Amino acid sequence: MTDRSNTTVRTRRSDQRSPDDGIRLRALSAAVYPPEESASWPGRNIEWAAPDFDIEIFDEHGDLVSYTGLVIRRARHEGANVLIAGIGAVKTHPAFRGRGLAPSAIDAALGKGVEEGCEFGLLVCEDHLVPYYERSAWCLYEGTMLTTQCGEKEPFDFNKVMVRSLGPPAPTSGILDLQGPPW
Ligand SMILES: CC(C)(COP(=O)(O)OP(=O)(O)OC[C@H]1O[C@@H](n2cnc3c(N)ncnc32)[C@H](O)[C@@H]1OP(=O)(O)O)[C@@H](O)C(=O)NCCC(=O)NCCS
Repeated sequence: MTDRSNTTVRTRRSDQRSPDDGIRLRALSAAVYPPEESASWPGRNIEWAAPDFDIEIFDEHGDLVSYTGLVIRRARHEGANVLIAGIGAVKTHPAFRGRGLAPSAIDAALGKGVEEGCEFGLLVCEDHLVPYYERSAWCLYEGTMLTTQCGEKEPFDFNKVMVRSLGPPAPTSGILDLQGPPW
């Protein structure tokens, strides 16, 4: 079911985040990932990229209830330059789930990516979320994705890689070098 009434979507450069924006985002993150869960998350040792844009959804009281980060990344696929709209840190407050907020934030992020000239979207997720994203036109990237960790190139095998077309079909095989950390 989709109920997005009384919510507001805001897209802003992450480097223009105010101290209050940071406090709201940390509060949402803590509601989504309790401290004991964050402390034992295997991905905590991975170097992740910071977002270029924040997509925030507020409820009618001005509380941050859903967030998606957008990384604009110049990468290489099979040696050719590609510009990717990287979707990351997708989260919705537990009390606001099932209302289509995360898909709204992701669509806004991909729209911003198109404005910036991106050719396809890319996210990484745990296995159990693959069917969820497949329902929104994301598909599995079956090739090898290289990322940079502490300055060294490494194949990414921490979790699943998914891509979504933003016009021309997104690549789903071959070597994709993110030329930087994942998101
Ligand atoms: C995944 C998440 C962002 C979805 O946010 P949302 O705003 O509720 O988005 P939607 O309204 O589309 O979500 C509802 C759907 O999410 C699916 N979903 C949510 N969490 C899920 C999980 N852990 N496993 C499988 N499916 C899940 C449900 O199947 C539900 O499907 P429905 O539409 O048929 O009811 C939210 O559950 C969340 O914040 N989870 C914790 C953080 C996380 O895993 N983020 C994703 C990182 S890639």
